[in-house]
Amino acid sequence: MSRRPLIAGNWKMHLTVAEAVQLAKALAETARNCPDRDVLIAPPFTALAAVCTAVAKSTLLVAAQNVAWEVQGAFTGEISPTMLTDLGIAWAIVGHSERRQIFGESSAMINRRIHGALGNALHPILCIGETLAERESEQTFTVLQQQIQEGLDQVTAEQMRTIVLAYEPVWAIGTGKTATKEQAQEVHAFIRGLLTAMYEKAVADSTRILYGGSVKPDNIDDLMQQADIDGVLVGGAALQVESFSRIICFQ
Ligand code: G3P
Repeated sequence: MSRRPLIAGNWKMHLTVAEAVQLAKALAETARNCPDRDVLIAPPFTALAAVCTAVAKSTLLVAAQNVAWEVQGAFTGEISPTMLTDLGIAWAIVGHSERRQIFGESSAMINRRIHGALGNALHPILCIGETLAERESEQTFTVLQQQIQEGLDQVTAEQMRTIVLAYEPVWAIGTGKTATKEQAQEVHAFIRGLLTAMYEKAVADSTRILYGGSVKPDNIDDLMQQADIDGVLVGGAALQVESFSRIICFQ
């Protein structure tokens, strides 16, 4: 089954509005030259409106880095799904390991965010991944299974059509230590098998599973050749037009 590749850049807490707009415009041009793949950027909240306007006529997809589960109310510091759709945004990252680890987001909270996104026409990108200690104690598959089952609790097979999963081993994020292509493929195949068990083969076959963690121009081609890696979620290397353009144009 062929799945359309998705190359996503998570800009995290970086860039001014002007810098974000400049980078987005340059990447829209790169995306235009690679029409056989989806290209997505996740700017900080402060730059979302300006970036959406700047790339409105391009194929570039724009995501928020998180999303609340309620559409409005007393939730200081949160951004609602309808505030995002109001800007024309159709995507939201949910459950990034930095949200889980630094800001204490639980799987239950992440599941609520997933449903908040799904209920308001947003495509969630659900992030999962094990820590180094969990990998070294051979807990990788147990941890991932729990994160996926809890994150996707009450998500239907129909809703799975709009969800993307992103496997980001915590030990590979921002460390320069990429999972080898074999390590990444092994986990992606496990995730696809789990989706078959939770839903059905057609759902597993059509769900895009991204790899994230120190993806760079020099490892993108190998990663994208793996059967179950359908794209990447890039942090540091997505902040420069040259490196992210090279990643977008993987061969
Ligand atoms: O969400 C992307 C991410 O966490 C990976 O970051 O800097 O290792 O590519 P980086």
